[in-house]
Amino acid sequence: MRRLNFASGPAVLPEQVLRKAQEAILDLDHSGIGILEHSHRGKEFGRVLDRAEAVVREVGGIGDDFAVLFVTAGATQHFAMVPENFLGKDETADYCHTGVWSGKAMEEAKRFGGVHIACSSEADNFASVPPSIAWSSAPRYVHYTSNETIYGTQWPAPPAAPAPLVCDASSDIFSRPLPLAGHGLIYAGAQKNLGPSGISLVIARKDFIETGRKDLSPLTQYRTYARERSMHNTPNTFGIWMIAEVVGWIRDQGGLAEMEQRNRKKAARLYDFLDHSKLWRTHAKPGSRSMMNVTFRGATPELEDKLVAESEARGMTGLRGHRSVGGLRASIYNAFPEAGVERLVELLSEIDRG
Ligand SMILES: Cc1ncc(COP(=O)(O)O)c(C=O)c1O
Repeated sequence: MRRLNFASGPAVLPEQVLRKAQEAILDLDHSGIGILEHSHRGKEFGRVLDRAEAVVREVGGIGDDFAVLFVTAGATQHFAMVPENFLGKDETADYCHTGVWSGKAMEEAKRFGGVHIACSSEADNFASVPPSIAWSSAPRYVHYTSNETIYGTQWPAPPAAPAPLVCDASSDIFSRPLPLAGHGLIYAGAQKNLGPSGISLVIARKDFIETGRKDLSPLTQYRTYARERSMHNTPNTFGIWMIAEVVGWIRDQGGLAEMEQRNRKKAARLYDFLDHSKLWRTHAKPGSRSMMNVTFRGATPELEDKLVAESEARGMTGLRGHRSVGGLRASIYNAFPEAGVERLVELLSEIDRG
């Protein structure tokens, strides 16, 4: 019996893709060899890579001016790789500080050049995305985290920036239509809405990539991935297969507009319940609330423990908040079913009634 998995990532994936993965591990497309065993230079994997890029472009509405890259690393790698490629030591990049992940990204950027905090919601305990922004005079790029996985906030729309936007979209990629305008580069670790951990999807303007440094090792330059179709060395072949299948599943469900509608409905159900409850309160403020990670607290720690214990007893799991902030968090990514949100609301209501 599969549990209802509220974990923040690695997280729930579409069951039909997981079943297909079981088959593909034994025998990829009737080739007699499994996906883990195929050469990355062979024609079978070539077809997988073609399919992955094509479906990401189709679902994301991504044109030829952007490259689609599969990087064998999590999002943390891009915290350093972005400034290493694009930020000279006499230049400044602007960072929007909305929580743990933007904090880590800024720390890495400081190794390579100047960092200006253009906006921060730290004084608000990261319960919102900042309402006012003060850009530096000539930022090289503007970095923001579209969805703050730990605090549970999400930019309703990208900030209007005076330089190419660089977005860490790890926890909301493909949960709603992709706002490509204004972006130089979008990166996302795959382990929430796309596939397994240890691989990231990068969608980057080709002309922005070309502005990057040329004197870095090949695997540190985005241009290498663009020029060699993510095949400079052996890529994460299974990860790419998974991304192709998960994004294919998104397409078959109706695409990003449909994902957004479902995600809005699931999140609204939970926020609406929490807003009307006396025992529970949300962390994120209206207007900044995440559709992916609903963070909340109980009136007492005992109540939170009770919810976690009861949820585990009823086939649910993963509701504890991140170790750095505590509390509770329901991660309800694309593949998390609406019926699962109902089950959680039922349990919360029961506890409310005493
Ligand atoms: C928004 C965001 N950025 C970056 C990361 C780091 O990803 P990884 O551990 O794959 O490097 C995470 C982690 O889950 C995340 O939620």
